[in-house]
Amino acid sequence: MRSILMMNSKGGCGKTTLATNLAGYYATQGKSVLLADYDPQASSMDWLAERPETSPEIYGVAAFEEKFRIGKSIDILIMDAPAGISGKPLNDMLRKAETIIMPILPSPIDVRAASHFIKNMNHINKLVKSEVKIATVANRVREKTLAGNDLSEYLSKLKLPNGKKFPFMSVFRASQNYIRAADQGLSIFELAPSLTTTDREQWEPLLRWLNSARSKP
Ligand SMILES: Nc1ncnc2c1ncn2[C@@H]1O[C@H](COP(=O)(O)OP(=O)(O)OP(=O)(O)O)[C@@H](O)[C@H]1O
Ligand SMILES: [Mg+2]
Repeated sequence: MRSILMMNSKGGCGKTTLATNLAGYYATQGKSVLLADYDPQASSMDWLAERPETSPEIYGVAAFEEKFRIGKSIDILIMDAPAGISGKPLNDMLRKAETIIMPILPSPIDVRAASHFIKNMNHINKLVKSEVKIATVANRVREKTLAGNDLSEYLSKLKLPNGKKFPFMSVFRASQNYIRAADQGLSIFELAPSLTTTDREQWEPLLRWLNSARSKP
């Protein structure tokens, strides 16, 4: 079983958007997906409630209020973390995670906040027996702005506190497709390909990484 955690202490950076889109992606690939929502706001669970019965099934668990076991049939566990997470709840999620994806908004304030968060997380990492793999993605980047390029450059230089490179995987543009998909309980991979070509292309580097040994402990 593969386990992937969407995490960043900043609110509104795209954790739920990434979690639901990744869940949709794997479901369309025929995988058995469990989406665990650790956020009492329950946005991932709300998304799942909108999902059409005709779409590939995704299992959901309101992890913020119930303990759960991962069935043997599950191929992929996707965890959606709440904003402002720290201490024991963060530690509990990290114990389950093989891979962490950290969405970051294209602003200096958000990038700096993310580096602080990473420093604190390394401390918690020591408690985790297997070393989790972590990567950042830039999210909601407006097209035709310099912010995207500057951000890519900056994020490519980020290092983990142990000196290892902090891989930077993808730039996701700000797109109405994410809003449209979210509204219907779908992922962008389940919208018309002709409308979502750019978005699908932007997911490719992240998906390649996730499907390779490089993202596994
Ligand atoms: N690439 C994108 N393009 C357009 N809208 C986006 C994109 N990513 C996220 N959004 C929108 O931005 C808002 C915040 O995104 P999201 O809920 O995924 O963030 P979050 O990190 O889960 O927030 P929270 O910390 O509150 O859980 C949502 O309304 C979402 O639809
Ligand atoms: Mg969320």
